[in-house]
Amino acid sequence: MTKKRTLTGYRPTGKLHIGHWFGNLQNMLSMQHEYDAYYFIADYHALTTHWQDPSHVRESTEEMVLDWLAAGLDPEICTIYRQSDVPEVVELMTFFAMVTPKPWLERVPSYKEQRLQVTDKDLGNLGFFLYPLLQAADITVVLADAVPVGEDQAPHLELTREIVRRFNNAYGEYLVEPEAIIPKEGARVPGTDGRKMSKSYGNAIYISDSPDVMRTKVMSFVTDPARKLKTDPGNPDICPLHAVHKLFAPAAEIAEWDACCRVAECGCVAHKKKLADELVAYFEPFQTRRAELAAIPNHAWNVLAAGAAKASPVTREVVGTCREIVGIDPRTELSAHVKRREAGAELSAPSFADDDDDTLADV
Ligand code: TRP
Repeated sequence: MTKKRTLTGYRPTGKLHIGHWFGNLQNMLSMQHEYDAYYFIADYHALTTHWQDPSHVRESTEEMVLDWLAAGLDPEICTIYRQSDVPEVVELMTFFAMVTPKPWLERVPSYKEQRLQVTDKDLGNLGFFLYPLLQAADITVVLADAVPVGEDQAPHLELTREIVRRFNNAYGEYLVEPEAIIPKEGARVPGTDGRKMSKSYGNAIYISDSPDVMRTKVMSFVTDPARKLKTDPGNPDICPLHAVHKLFAPAAEIAEWDACCRVAECGCVAHKKKLADELVAYFEPFQTRRAELAAIPNHAWNVLAAGAAKASPVTREVVGTCREIVGIDPRTELSAHVKRREAGAELSAPSFADDDDDTLADV
């Protein structure tokens, strides 16, 4: 039985925080076993917004890969690579650029929002405009079936599906329309100020923070704002500290903290101290492993190179088939896809490859 293929990518924004750990990484860890999993570092995507200051992209790539590996992503099981090592992505984006009407990209919500809101950098570049097209190519170049992404990325997945349909309509059913897998609500992890944990809010606890830094950050957590005194009863349902505790503590302890907070029997400071100790202990094995991996010279880069070598046969086959069905390559040998089609496989859409004579007639 062949496994379904999944793919997800992260812009190299540096070290991962506990929101990533509980929100995405645990998911990636289990999916590497259930799926044929492709995990990549989207360094070109980082350049679309940081083209004026790309100095951190390389370092962040390395940090992120070390975090992934130490967390347990296994390059023997999944395929870990870097976008810019797989040039077929860019070639597929070029094909997509032919079939995508410009307004489709102008309407993308993240594009419209960021063009209006971001004032500290110039996002009038074509690269940023093409961001969703590049993402569509990332996904499709390995024919991914399922893409786990945050809710904010859902429009990008929808656009990918539309572009794939348009490509397939023009050239023959070949590319795969990916499903989005949107994680459940619980995946939202609050930061120290109670807002969603995010590097840009400065409220994040990084999984590689030293024990001291972790402790200081946990002690600065906001709690239920209505609970001013230790004798005031608290509401754990709205308390960010409880939300973090719930991510990893044993069920009995979660229930105990919940109950004693509601009746004002235990104070927030005591819970913070306890949580800090638990968090430090929880991440200790990860941190030990990360230090070991970081001590191996060039380890992250070697893993990425091996991953690109593993991904390349797949991406070459896909883009080679695209060239062929679009009809720009001499037909020396038919691809497996075209052979299947000519053998009468279930495909019905007309394709340019079937009528070589008049593809240019209208131009
Ligand atoms: N746009 C995604 C983000 O900002 C990163 C990304 C790039 C991605 N290419 C992808 C995610 C392909 C999933 C699939 O997080």
